[in-house]
Amino acid sequence: MCGIVGYVGWREAETVIVAGLKRMEYRGYDSAGIAVVTADGVVSRKKAGKLVNLETELVEHPLASSHQGIGHTRWATHGGPTDENAHPHLGRTGRVALVHNGIIENFAQLRAELVADGVEFASDTDSEAVAHLLEREVLDGHGLTEAMRRTVGRLEGSFTLVAIDAQCPDTVVAARRSSPLVVGVGDKEMFLASDVASFIEHTREAIELGQDQIVEITPDSVAVTTFDAEEAPVRPYHIDWDLSAAEKGGYDWFMRKEIFEQPKAVSDTLLGRIGADRLLVLDEMRIDVAHLRSIDSIIVVACGTAYHAGLIAKYAIEHWTRIPVEVELASEFRYRDPIVTSRTLVVTISQSGETADTLMAVRHAREQRAKVVSICNTNGATIPRESDAVIYTHAGPEIGVASTKGFTTQLIACYLLGLYLAQIRDAKFGDEIASLVRELEALPAKMDEVLDDLGTTLALARDLMDCSVVLFLGRHVGYPVALEGALKLKEISYMHAEGFAAGELKHGPIALVEEGLPVFIVVPPRGRDQLHDKVVSNIQEVRARGARTIVLAERDDAEAERFADVFLPLPTVPTLFQPVLAILPLQEFACEVATLKGHDVDQPRNLAKSVTVE
Ligand code: G6P
Repeated sequence: MCGIVGYVGWREAETVIVAGLKRMEYRGYDSAGIAVVTADGVVSRKKAGKLVNLETELVEHPLASSHQGIGHTRWATHGGPTDENAHPHLGRTGRVALVHNGIIENFAQLRAELVADGVEFASDTDSEAVAHLLEREVLDGHGLTEAMRRTVGRLEGSFTLVAIDAQCPDTVVAARRSSPLVVGVGDKEMFLASDVASFIEHTREAIELGQDQIVEITPDSVAVTTFDAEEAPVRPYHIDWDLSAAEKGGYDWFMRKEIFEQPKAVSDTLLGRIGADRLLVLDEMRIDVAHLRSIDSIIVVACGTAYHAGLIAKYAIEHWTRIPVEVELASEFRYRDPIVTSRTLVVTISQSGETADTLMAVRHAREQRAKVVSICNTNGATIPRESDAVIYTHAGPEIGVASTKGFTTQLIACYLLGLYLAQIRDAKFGDEIASLVRELEALPAKMDEVLDDLGTTLALARDLMDCSVVLFLGRHVGYPVALEGALKLKEISYMHAEGFAAGELKHGPIALVEEGLPVFIVVPPRGRDQLHDKVVSNIQEVRARGARTIVLAERDDAEAERFADVFLPLPTVPTLFQPVLAILPLQEFACEVATLKGHDVDQPRNLAKSVTVE
């Protein structure tokens, strides 16, 4: 949510900043802006709408040359997406320019104070108040870094702020609280960004910033201090992916590329976590084994797609460990006064590691003395930093707003965690674990099989692109797959899609079924209890009422195929692992429908990839 860039060095700042914003547009795309320091002071350009509007503005009204500047791509919170509300915001005299990601909670009070002081606001944003406060400090004679420190002392809420001062050459200053910011370290140039993708083409050396820290960059230096003016340790790291990961590589959309990257993302996520004996080695589980043996409940907390991964995790972890697992939407978690004790293990799942709802859940859980394990895809993000342990999903950068490889790798991480808990608690025999681990290792090849055979799915997208409603049904782990399939379609094709538990259909939603209604049904592998047969009966129920059935089932499942208008075959896997395969055609279906409808698949309306406000 909102992408921020800062640059100081020897390149043309406008070029670096616009390119950086382009790579972060997935974070928000309802307006964009830039400000640079020139010989005539701070100059800024900003425009409502996608980044391309700003680019046009920069062609029509070019900026003077500069090597120091800031930029912003916005997902609106305070104030609609207009030119005025776009960032950067300038102080009253125009000496200081500032961009902001997050929400200033005491904004009304600050605004009233500034208005009483004679300040006229040019926008409806909370961020503009910060620009005025910062400029006031600078005009009082404080250097930009000290002025920033004094300003953040007045703020409540979450923020990343990046600022320039016309009279402070070769310097950009930023502050961070509960919102992402990384420093890119170049040769005689430094970068600031919400996400490393923004500067990956220039450098792969980065520095993590901690909570409540201020950073001052110049072309040759990075100085990090706390809000209390203490020197803070600098934590450099190397980014282990390169520019190609942040580019489309011949695909029409990042989402499509990411769908096809899933087999590799899954094998990368398994890498280094399986011993020669096919037992699990989770070195990153920095929670004492004795403690993990003593936990008596697990709560999985997440949002959106990650929540659906959590719903699947419940089936797997409970089945393997017999520990009761609850799954909760992060935005609901702390408000229901959940029962969390020191024997509860809280597991959060977040691709970005920055989702504010999930972060607040982490903090709440830790206040209750629970240990928190986070499953996350973003190195050094706030959620893993604040957790007791982290299992990284090695999916590489996910840029399409609709999560795909994020989801399947989250599932893998959940399976690893569940099997690891079963292993250390002796809830399963070693050979049972080893045989499941072998099945996990076989998944990437089976995912490739599914992805190599998407012709029927693509044809189906053409057939169904004008439907107004699509339903998805599943039972057991197929149920969250149905929810996720429906979410993908809603997110990018704006079609009304709903996922239901197949058995629940008859208790209400079946009233929606009418002649020709497309219904996707995820059929579990055969052989487990009566799960398979029950779902086959559910197919017949909807078919008898005129639905057009699209059935995802094991390749040679003739029984399921008999009742399918369209049959999407899947390789055979254990029931608990089937979601990793079954979701693939549903992702591609949504991507293709949205493409055919002419939508921007990577940047669907109203959404942002990383939502850093509650
Ligand atoms: C946003 C995105 C969703 C994502 C959710 C959780 O709403 O649009 O695609 O699933 O956040 O994101 P996280 O980064 O925490 O997994």
